[in-house]
Amino acid sequence: MMKIAFANPGLPTTGIVCVGVTAGCKLTESAKLLDRQLKGAIARTVKVGRFEGKLGQSVSIPAPAGSKLDAVLVVGLGEGKSLDALALQSHGGRIYSAISTAGTAAVSVCVDAVRGCKLDAGEMAAEMALGARLRSYRFDKYRTKEDEKAKPSIRTMTYRGAEMAKARRLFGSHDKVADGVAFTRDLVSEPANILYPETLAKEARTLSKLGIKVEVLNGAHLKKLGMGALLGVAQGSVREPRVVVMQWNGAAKKPGKGKDGPVAFIGKGVTFDTGGISIKPSGGMEDMKWDMGGSGVVIGLMKALAGRKAKVNVVGIVGLVENMPGGNAQRPGDIVTSMSGQTIEVLNTDAEGRLVLADVLHYCNERFKPRMMVDLATLTGAIIVALGDEKAGLFSNNDELANAISSAGDKVAEKVWRMPMGEEYDKMLKSDAADMKNISGGRGAGSVTAAQFLQRFVGDTPWAHLDIAGVTWAKKDAPTVPKGGTGFGVRLLDRMVADFYEGK
Ligand code: BES
Ligand code: MN
Ligand code: ZN
Repeated sequence: MMKIAFANPGLPTTGIVCVGVTAGCKLTESAKLLDRQLKGAIARTVKVGRFEGKLGQSVSIPAPAGSKLDAVLVVGLGEGKSLDALALQSHGGRIYSAISTAGTAAVSVCVDAVRGCKLDAGEMAAEMALGARLRSYRFDKYRTKEDEKAKPSIRTMTYRGAEMAKARRLFGSHDKVADGVAFTRDLVSEPANILYPETLAKEARTLSKLGIKVEVLNGAHLKKLGMGALLGVAQGSVREPRVVVMQWNGAAKKPGKGKDGPVAFIGKGVTFDTGGISIKPSGGMEDMKWDMGGSGVVIGLMKALAGRKAKVNVVGIVGLVENMPGGNAQRPGDIVTSMSGQTIEVLNTDAEGRLVLADVLHYCNERFKPRMMVDLATLTGAIIVALGDEKAGLFSNNDELANAISSAGDKVAEKVWRMPMGEEYDKMLKSDAADMKNISGGRGAGSVTAAQFLQRFVGDTPWAHLDIAGVTWAKKDAPTVPKGGTGFGVRLLDRMVADFYEGK
């Protein structure tokens, strides 16, 4: 893993150095200093060509004559007033990607206070470092023959500027959140022959070394609890299901019930979704290895919160099953009894996530009486039709909670869009044979009816559901998110906890 360091202002003498230029090609103090050393090379370079100092632009000056530097990267910072935390994270991520494979191990980024920017140099460096850290994530454990030249050469990224003690302190907590994001990305990237309920539970167990209490419930446990909906999904697979309960009690007072209860996060953990007997088409089915994305976020979030010692009581519960069409698989038309006592006619075995969550939501609500519950699930293809890969779908029975999630999402660039709910949609789940059916059977509102289904298992507890089917896996690189598992949700919920629930 790349090392991130913070050092006093000053120009390095070796490696690659990165300096900033603001809109209209105004050199920052470090850029001026370096320009003098390089006899005007920077000023000349930015004057020619199309470099305007806009954020996102960069131009590289190869190994300048008379200097031991490997290269100089001149980056545009744009207008100071647009340089907020998110812009700086993206900026940091872009710098990383511009030089990560350049062949040089040491990279220095000079950080100068910029007029109009509300952040000081320390804050700027911490945000840039977070962006670089997030962008530098790689899932490469199964590449045994990768060309050395394709691998990142950077070993150390050093931010140099004033107030770097502050940067180091701020980055300390950012780094813990990034650890959580990386853990989620790792879990989501693992193939389903390696990661299945038992092994995913084992990964969750590793959190106990951070002070999280981890309980793993096996198939026999779940049967005793009466989780018929979850078990119905699991029965088509030779892999036994698991439910993992993680507790982090970081608040001054132990958790109580209701208003004094913990905040709860629940994740769908379908380690592979073939669809079951209502089997999916084969094209693209490999994507269903990340149908445990919701559980991955909950596990990564717990890691982030415990890592930064968040002053809050949290429970994270994940329902882990594999949805397979084995000889004992549940059949369309089967009726199962959920832990809540409500019966469900399973008309489509591919609508399995809601069956898993039904029991886990109910269990969580009964056992912990949480002050609120948020579930995350790669629940419906329909949410991708509605929102693409830009935003997650947000469904809630509580405006205050929904607003907290929306505002946290905006602050960390993990955006959500609130979707409607209501009795008219709930009605679409009416079954002729049981208390409800697991699909509406109609063509419309697939994501809404899925959410309505979940709502039947949360009682009066403030609850929100994030349908993350569109945002869990990225097909292309973004400044702070390399393609692959995104970890979407970890930063959002970490921020929501920090802004709305910590110390309260
Ligand atoms: N895991 C899928 C949803 C999904 C689809 C996630 C594509 C990511 C990408 C879920 O279990 C599912 O199969 N949903 C069905 C529901 C339908 C049968 C009512 C769907 O969306 O087609
Ligand atoms: Mn499915
Ligand atoms: Zn699924």
